[in-house]
Order: sequence, then C-alpha cells, then structure tokens
Amino acid sequence: MKKEEQKRICVILAAGKGTRMRSKLPKVMHKITGKPMLMHVIDTALAARAEKVVVVTSPDMESVRDEIKNRYNDAVDNVVQKQQLGTGDAVKAAESVLAKYKGNVIVLYGDTPLIEQETILSMSGVLDSSPDTAVAVLGMESALPNAYGRLVMDKKGGVERIVEVKDATAKEKQITLCNSGVMAVKGSVLFKLLARLDNKNANGEFYLTDVVKLARESGHDCGLVIAEARELMGVNSRVELAFAESIAQDKLRQKAMEHGATLIDPLSIYFSYDTKIGKDVVIHPNVVFGEKVDIKDNVEIRSFCHIEGTKVHEHVVVGPFARIRPGSDIGESAHVGNFVELKNTKLEKGAKVNHLSYMGDAHVGEKANIGAGTITCNYDGFNKHKTEIGAGAFIGSNTSLVAPVKVGDGAVIAAGSVITRDVADNSLAIARAVQEEKADWAKKFRKKK
Ligand code: UD1
Ligand code: CA
Repeated sequence: MKKEEQKRICVILAAGKGTRMRSKLPKVMHKITGKPMLMHVIDTALAARAEKVVVVTSPDMESVRDEIKNRYNDAVDNVVQKQQLGTGDAVKAAESVLAKYKGNVIVLYGDTPLIEQETILSMSGVLDSSPDTAVAVLGMESALPNAYGRLVMDKKGGVERIVEVKDATAKEKQITLCNSGVMAVKGSVLFKLLARLDNKNANGEFYLTDVVKLARESGHDCGLVIAEARELMGVNSRVELAFAESIAQDKLRQKAMEHGATLIDPLSIYFSYDTKIGKDVVIHPNVVFGEKVDIKDNVEIRSFCHIEGTKVHEHVVVGPFARIRPGSDIGESAHVGNFVELKNTKLEKGAKVNHLSYMGDAHVGEKANIGAGTITCNYDGFNKHKTEIGAGAFIGSNTSLVAPVKVGDGAVIAAGSVITRDVADNSLAIARAVQEEKADWAKKFRKKK
C-alpha cells in the first residue's frame, strides 16, 4: 500500500558568520557556477515542491533579504535569527512561521549548495514511511570526515545520536558516516524537541544535531538517508568553495555531453548554472560561459572564447578568441572570428565579422560582411548610440563607424573610411584622404641625406 505523501516546508539556515571565508560578503552569497550558494539551495527546495521556503538570516544580512525578495517575491519567507547561537537556535527562529505546521519540515543549510531535489524528496519520504519515525538524517560516507559531525548508529540501523567532532571521543572520531546537516523532522514534534535543546557542548551552541538524541529519548525512531559526499559537501572556506565549483562544473559538463554536445577537453570548459547547449554543438578547449547563454544545435565554438548573455543560432561558428558580451544575438550560419568583440549586437543570418573588430550596439543585416579591424564608435563619453548595417553591405577593412549611423542595404564602404553620415542603399562611400603620389621623391630624399 502506498503511503500518502505529506506536504513539506524547507527551512534554509544561512545566518552563520562564515568567518572561515574571510570575506565581507555573507558566506552563502558566494557564487558557484555564477549563482549564490543560497539561491542554489532555494531553487532546489522550490523544485522539490516545498509549500513554503523559509530562509533564516542574521540581523545584518539586510542585503541578502532584499536579494531574496527581488528574486522570489512572496515565494520565499525571511526570518531573522537575532544572535547566532547555533543551528538548533536558527531553526527555532522560524517558529513564528511554522508553529502550527503539521507537515514535514526539511532543514537545509545555505552552505551545502549541491543538494539535489530527489534527495530532499527521499528525506520527506522516510518520515512518511512510518508513524514512529519523527526524524530523518541525511548522511554520507566521507573519506575525509574532518570537521563533519559523526552519526552514531544503533543495532537496528537507526540513528541514535549525532556527535560533533569537537565533542567526539577518539573512537567516535573514527566513524566515517557523517552528518550532511540536512534533517527532516515532523512538524508536530519539531518545536517540542527544539525547546529541550541545551548548549552544554564544546562550542556552547544549541546544536540542531541534538534533536536526534532527544527524539530517541521520547520514543521516536530516527531514519537515515545516505547520499554521495560530493552532493552534500559543506562550504566553509575558499578552498571548499573551489572544490564545490569543480563538482558543480563536472555535473554541467556531463549534462551538456549527455544532451549531445561534444566537449573536446571538458575540464577546460566552464559553464554557468543556466547555460543552454543544443545538440551536435562542438566546444573546443578553454571556453568560458557567463550567465544567460543559449546555444542552438550544430554550433561550433573554437578555443579561448568568453560568451555571456547571448543567443547563438544554428550553424554558427564562433572564435577562436572571441569575446561576446550581453545582449548579443548571432543569427543562423553567421561567423564571428578571432579577436572580435560583440556587445549588444545582433548579427542576422549569414553575417560575417571575422577579424579584429568591435561591434557595439549594432545591427548587422543578413549576409553583410564586416572587414578586418572595423570598429563601431558607439560611445561619445555620455551616451551609447546605434549602428545599423544593411543586408548584404560590405564594410571595408579598418572602417570606423561613428554612431549613430546607418549603412544601407548592399552599400560598400571603402577600406579605412571614417563614416559619420548615413550611406544610402547600394552606394559606395569613401571617407578618407585621397592618395597623392610624388614620383622619385624618395630617391631625391635619400640623396639629400
Ligand atoms: C554542521 C553540523 C555538522 C555537519 C555539518 C555539515 C551542527 C551543530 N553541526 O556543522 O554535524 O556535519 O554542518 O556541513 O549542526 N547557521 C545559522 N545560525 C547559527 C549557526 C549556523 O543559521 O547560529 C547556519 C550557517 O549559516 C550554515 C549552517 O547553519 O549555513 C551550518 O552552520 P555551520 O556553522 O557551518 O555548521 P558546521 O560547523 O559546518
Ligand atoms: Ca558548514
């Protein structure tokens, strides 16, 4: 018989000082794959269909609460833990929001950003599996258990208590089954258990982990879910931040390859949490994707490109050595070559910008060809202006396009021109000094010297 699935609320603890980061930025706002750790956890909690997500912050984290409001409006509640008295005390701070709640409460940590939705759901499932199970702990086998709390198990496979390293005996320290921090507790007992916490331990803190022992003393069972240490790693320092980044990047690389992209040297390609990569895309070594990139099918990205905020359509070739900045859109079969920078620029189908160019705030028509060294002068020191280049236009090498300016369809611009006025469709514009030639001048000059 299938048990009914209880609803759940996720409480995310984020109030800790995070001193080991040595940073002015709150620890949970440090980014992994371009997104703050806390937002990774919030997004995962929402994906796990939490009825409500509650984030616990400290009084001085006003900016974090603002950011949460900006991103999630009313989907996420904020509560403040007045003093950082420990993880147990932090959950207590959510009592005002959760007091009468009878569903499952899943406690997540803002510094454990790689947790997956399925894991949250299986934690909730353990509570639903038996009326006697009031608590479920999420554990991991760790080869380097260092600072993690250790799970002390009973003979029947239940969790008896959690011991923090600082309070552990030498024998307990040898346990390799560790506490990830994630805990699921039935709403009906959570605050009764928290009320009984004390701070008689090495840190003088109210530990959430003591809820296990207290639940067992009251006759409840405590279940266990085990997940991989990679998924559950806690970030307390910059070294751990870098390690978490590498784990997250590996997952994104794997996902891109599973969806049909070829990564020639996966370890040298860096994605953003939201990078979209189509099928039969080939990415050469040393490419970095910033936020909001959408690559369609059959695109080739050659080495040493940096791409952000851009849509790249089918059959495009980019790079090597291209920098594509936000607001750009590269049309089907267009080419962007070496040492080219695009910013807020749309290239229509089949347009080519192949060598040493800067196109900013520009619109380049279908099949237009932009010669080597062409530059848009889009900024006058105060405002940005637009450059429009018509379909099939041919811009000679080393042209400066002084915006705002418009080059008509099929127009040709002579190499080396400085274009300050609009050019009509199909015209030739030459805007440079006329070449003079003085016969034998050089010969006479050398003789004189
Ligand atoms: C905690 C666990 C430990 C576990 C480890 C996993 C306890 C007592 N220990 O230790 O068993 O192995 O996580 O990573 O729970 N926080 C608050 N308010 C506070 C204190 C902390 O909101 O007063 C938040 C922090 O911002 C952080 C999370 O709780 O997101 C965990 O706190 P942290 O101090 O990092 O706990 P650990 O020492 O890592
Ligand atoms: Ca931690």
